Amino acid sequence: MSSDIDSTSEQGREQAPTVRPGPGVPSHTAGDTDTGAGTSNGNATEKLVIFDTTLRDGEQAPGISLDPAEKMEIAEQLARLGVDYIEAGFPVSSQGDFDSVQAIARSVQGPVICGLSRTHVSDVDRCFDALRDAGRARIHVFISTSPEHMEYMLKMTPKQVFDEAHAAVARACEHVDDVEFSPQDATRTSVDFLLEILADAVAQGATTLNIPDTVGYGIPWDFAKLISHIRKEVPGDYIISTHCHNDLGLATSNTLAGVQAGARQVEVCVNGIGERAGNASLEEVVMAVAIRQDQFPGVYTGIHTEELARTSRLVSRLTGYPVQYNKAVVGRNAFAHEAGIHQHGVLSDRRTYEIIDAATVGLQGSQIVLGKHSGRHAFTASLEKMGIHAHGDVLDQAFRRFKDLADRKVEITEADLEAIVAEEIGMGVVEGYVLESLEVSGGTEEAARAKVALSRVGSRVNATAEGNGMIDAACKAIGLATSTDAELAGFNVSSVTGGIDALGDVVIQLISDGIKVSGKGVSTDVVEASARAYLAAVNRLIRAKERNRESLTRAGDTGP
Ligand code: KIV
Ligand code: ZN
Repeated sequence: MSSDIDSTSEQGREQAPTVRPGPGVPSHTAGDTDTGAGTSNGNATEKLVIFDTTLRDGEQAPGISLDPAEKMEIAEQLARLGVDYIEAGFPVSSQGDFDSVQAIARSVQGPVICGLSRTHVSDVDRCFDALRDAGRARIHVFISTSPEHMEYMLKMTPKQVFDEAHAAVARACEHVDDVEFSPQDATRTSVDFLLEILADAVAQGATTLNIPDTVGYGIPWDFAKLISHIRKEVPGDYIISTHCHNDLGLATSNTLAGVQAGARQVEVCVNGIGERAGNASLEEVVMAVAIRQDQFPGVYTGIHTEELARTSRLVSRLTGYPVQYNKAVVGRNAFAHEAGIHQHGVLSDRRTYEIIDAATVGLQGSQIVLGKHSGRHAFTASLEKMGIHAHGDVLDQAFRRFKDLADRKVEITEADLEAIVAEEIGMGVVEGYVLESLEVSGGTEEAARAKVALSRVGSRVNATAEGNGMIDAACKAIGLATSTDAELAGFNVSSVTGGIDALGDVVIQLISDGIKVSGKGVSTDVVEASARAYLAAVNRLIRAKERNRESLTRAGDTGP
């Protein structure tokens, strides 16, 4: 990477020639002080723009497939978290993605909504179509610039790539005044070509230059050198951005090195999800900047850090990607102390072994205690406190589930509540089958059997099946009752909280006729949680097939 850059250029100490916030991002000049929200040392002067790409790059991770309602739920939480940009999707990639970007652009308030686009002019136009109703919109145009990508993937010469980028950025600037350009695989691109194509993008009107380390090839000091070099050599009024993948486990380090070298936008994903080994993790980057202000003097973000843990749990639950126990900042062990010496230290003063106060990332105080004596009022008040506004049938059903759970579990935490309400909201999106009862039997001597009763808009259906274990039997019985023939593409069980009576959180992915859906279920009984997850996925499948039929009919109506 970038070995042809002048190694004498000073890294990471110079000030950005121009730090120009994107539209809607308040401009801060030296001497500004922080207004309270976000991560700041109180003497903040430069905002670090948080560009969240969980719904675009994150969603490209193998096995993740979010439906429009799930994307909307995450987008709303990202807005609560205080991200500056939400990259909501890649509108030209599918009708579903177009619809999701459009829905988010129409309803999510706060962040700027961004759509990704290839360089074909028609793609740029389509991207804008999805975004046109947003309060504030950005078009993000990308094309590959490394020899590997140009030759083997695009089969284009550098001149053709340059011309495409030129035309696409110019076109995007006709639609919006906030345009980002990314030379894909920048860290394996010839530096001269990189400077040339970036300078032209700025000349056409791009306001953000993103430097993707697409294959996670960067090493922090080398990546920082590249960022400094671009800032020095590319004239104009733009923000420089990082987009680091984690193939060598360096995504967060490279991102921070980029910030130290003057990048003022970071592209990140919640829980670090994304293609292959993932992207830089939002929570790690934000907390590193907040905790190590000595290394990032005056740099601050607008993130409401106390929403980090909840955002992480939501993304984990909806994507089906568990958060590793020892994950920095939001892992369940991030604030757990096992060794006696550590426990002693933390009991005397938590700062002995903790550099972050758990409350600042939303982990302390999350153990609100609701139990079987709590009424509807306390239940609703707890939800409201968590920013969850459930109404009508969803609220009724969630309350019934809560009471049922309270009979089986002594203490119900905020995380438990979030899990059952999220499941009910997910179910509420689809008018589908409801699990009325489930009976299972089996063991080491006996074949597993399950009997289910489901209801759908007033009518009841029962089925019985045998299976290879009780979970398999329960899922087969649901398949029979709903006449669903689908292949199991993923199965993940995790516990929502610790303890023997913890809620089991199951995410199941199904594929049928090329449609991939996921469903989740929670219960103290893992067989019941699996049955609920399977049924939620079946309901989504039915709805997705109905949607496909409706759009085919619509296409037929308007055809030539
Ligand atoms: O990794 C990458 O290069 C990307 C671009 C589209 C920015 O995701
Ligand atoms: Zn990427």
